[in-house]
Amino acid sequence: MVEITRSYEIEVEMIDSDHRRLVDIINEITQAIDDKREEECARLVPDFVTFSKQHFAREEALLAKNGYPGVDKHRRHHASLNYKMDTMLALAERVVESVAARDELRKELIFFLMDDVINEDMNFKSFLVDAASRKGN
Ligand SMILES: [Fe+2]
Ligand SMILES: [Fe+2]
Repeated sequence: MVEITRSYEIEVEMIDSDHRRLVDIINEITQAIDDKREEECARLVPDFVTFSKQHFAREEALLAKNGYPGVDKHRRHHASLNYKMDTMLALAERVVESVAARDELRKELIFFLMDDVINEDMNFKSFLVDAASRKGN
């Protein structure tokens, strides 16, 4: 079971609620694997990928709107994750027959979420928090 601790919150509600939704889908997928509901798992992975892409687009728009100087770099980072998402979709097609695919998928999902999605977003956290407090003044 994956959880986002306080230190991994960006403190921008739109982003944090998207990240929580991604965590929820991953927990549903791993639960489906544990319960041997492989078809359910295969069905949820495309949902995870679709929601991830929607989240990346929302996040990029927010960064651009706030004038974050690293927006292009972060956009390229998101684009670089497409091949990992393609790998997840390919694994999802094999989870019904393959234990190895299920194990690999579980590992890929958790690393993707914690390292590529949440940890990389820490780079702009203080910028957005400062931007919000400037607006408040
Ligand atoms: Fe994010
Ligand atoms: Fe991001």
